[in-house]
Amino acid sequence: MSELSSRGRRLVESPPLAAYVAAHFEQLEDAWDPQDNPTGYIGLCIAENKLLAGEFLAALESTLPAPAETLAYDAVVGNLEFRRALADFMGRHLVQGPVDAEQLIVLGGAGSVLEQLFYVIADPRETVLVPTPSYAGFWADLETRDELHLQTVDARSETGFALDLEALEAARLAAPTPVRALLLTSPDNPLGRVHPRETLEQVAAWADAHEIHLVFDEVYALSVFGPRAFTSGAQLSGGLGPRHHVVWGFSKDFGASGLRCGVLLSHNAQVRRAVGELAYWSGCSGHTQYMLARFLSDAARADAYVTRMRESLGGAHATVSAALHDEGIDFRPGEAGFFVVCDLRAHLSEASWEGERRLWARLLAEARVNLTPGEACRIAEPGFFRLCYASMPAAAVREGVARLGRALGSKPSGG
Ligand SMILES: Cc1ncc(COP(=O)(O)O)c(C=O)c1O
Repeated sequence: MSELSSRGRRLVESPPLAAYVAAHFEQLEDAWDPQDNPTGYIGLCIAENKLLAGEFLAALESTLPAPAETLAYDAVVGNLEFRRALADFMGRHLVQGPVDAEQLIVLGGAGSVLEQLFYVIADPRETVLVPTPSYAGFWADLETRDELHLQTVDARSETGFALDLEALEAARLAAPTPVRALLLTSPDNPLGRVHPRETLEQVAAWADAHEIHLVFDEVYALSVFGPRAFTSGAQLSGGLGPRHHVVWGFSKDFGASGLRCGVLLSHNAQVRRAVGELAYWSGCSGHTQYMLARFLSDAARADAYVTRMRESLGGAHATVSAALHDEGIDFRPGEAGFFVVCDLRAHLSEASWEGERRLWARLLAEARVNLTPGEACRIAEPGFFRLCYASMPAAAVREGVARLGRALGSKPSGG
């Protein structure tokens, strides 16, 4: 008999971690290096921004030493001084208006915030609508312990993957169980698109009309380098309603996924209270909160970081766009985030998920490049792949794209 509970067995037998992520961590030991390992593995599948990692780390280190209080228990929803510094920063950069520190909860990463928020707003088997293409991790976040049913709202490539209200309504009506929430990533992942304010207003009005929660996942809010301005859910007309919640964190906009610091902004005191009762099990380390509070309290330095981060992302996007163009690889440019979606439909041996899986495996074996398969992003049509371009230096990204071009044989003749 197994030593595990049925829940424990389920985790072992069907792990929530996606196969492309598992492959990434397996291959990292053989990672590419221009001198020591020029044929090594190039992982372009993980949404991380390491472009300013050295600078941010140095800034955090300058906040040390931390006082002994950081070793002690503190408010499980986050140290109040940290939340005050966060409120100030988020007010300037996300919300363009005042944020009340009491309306913030700090937990160990945006994934923990999502898991705990949905635990308190939806019951097992109830439905959460997720527009696709989507961040792959929502399924692990909301199915594993919250036991929710995620229903995709599929956008099609012919429309440029436009988010449309009719599709939302159709998904709501088709849901097998009561729909409790819509989870909207804004700016989105994997398309790197900034949703226009009008779209967000329409979606919010639709959600309000049906009394469903609208969770804005805004973890890429500051990582915008295109001309279109980001609009937070908290900036919409009428402000953040009782069923609207914003999720943000340091993993993406500060390239600090290892610090595990995510933030919930909700004006709903009942929701905050319920999440607060769970917070003890996934709090953010006091030491991390201290460093981040000190970093944010120097507003000029924090603002300058955001400006440089955006510039560097814009530069990295230009680099990958040029490389993909040179190789004749079709892709949809981004305006935010650290990824583009490549259209490799023409390279599938057959237009099916099996065909997409085969192409993914071939690119990993032949080019030693790992892309996020569209299937993991729940894209409705096989053949699209997400390419993350800010987790490796420009030379690695160029090398990875050149290898993809060779493996696909897509380089334009004479080019
Ligand atoms: C849209 C979105 N939400 C949440 C997360 C998870 O963030 P964290 O590492 O802070 O848990 C990610 C990570 O890729 C993401 O892309």
